[in-house]
Amino acid sequence: MRVPLIAGNWKMNKTVSEAVAFAQELKCLAPFPGVEVLICPPYPALAPVAEVLAGTEIALGAQNVHWEDAGAYTGEVSPPMLKAAGCRYVIIGHSERRQYFGETDEIIQRKLKAAFRHGLIPILCVGENLEVRERGGTFDLIARQLEGALSGISEEEIGELVIAYEPVWAIGTGRNARPEDAQEVNYFIRDWLARRYSPEKAGSWRIQYGGSVTPDNAAELLAQPDIDGALVGGASLKVESFAAIIRAAA
Ligand code: G3P
Repeated sequence: MRVPLIAGNWKMNKTVSEAVAFAQELKCLAPFPGVEVLICPPYPALAPVAEVLAGTEIALGAQNVHWEDAGAYTGEVSPPMLKAAGCRYVIIGHSERRQYFGETDEIIQRKLKAAFRHGLIPILCVGENLEVRERGGTFDLIARQLEGALSGISEEEIGELVIAYEPVWAIGTGRNARPEDAQEVNYFIRDWLARRYSPEKAGSWRIQYGGSVTPDNAAELLAQPDIDGALVGGASLKVESFAAIIRAAA
């Protein structure tokens, strides 16, 4: 069955030395049987953290990527650079990138294609804001985001795929989705993937939940049949709370 993926998205937090210290501490707690653990530091810390994690099963991921391999794109980082730095995963389409950096479905789709082309596993983020949830538009929006990101991408192009359902109203607010509500959306996503691709693939791809996941609510969320892990922001910044969430998934 699907191995839960517990991922820490550090966002714009931690200097290189802070990131390395975290990785060293986390490494001392490994292995984590029955769970895949991933940390996604900011770009400057990727290669130094990769060195610390070498030889462990803790995976490394980036929080963003550009779609071209190289060229005149000031400030950007390409998929081959992430691979060379030791990344296995990359977060794509996080709501903060959509909201503050103008990422459209078209951009997200290009980034996904680039990740697949280079053997990076994308964690595609989708999720509604409060206004959409309150007017009952959640499923339509999620379907539109999935369509926008994945249209034109064939099953053959996709190696492995992770989706993170992150309701925007739950991110960093301390107000997580109720487990049954998150389950309902994750089931909807799996069903969408099964119809678009195949039930076999949709059954093997992991669908995470993200948004105010803490050691207190993790077990209940992760117990849902279609929640295959968590994308954790704030609570992934301290080894103690991140490890507690990992234990809740085991
Ligand atoms: O990508 C993780 C995220 O957006 C959730 O953040 O701080 O609510 O766990 P947080």
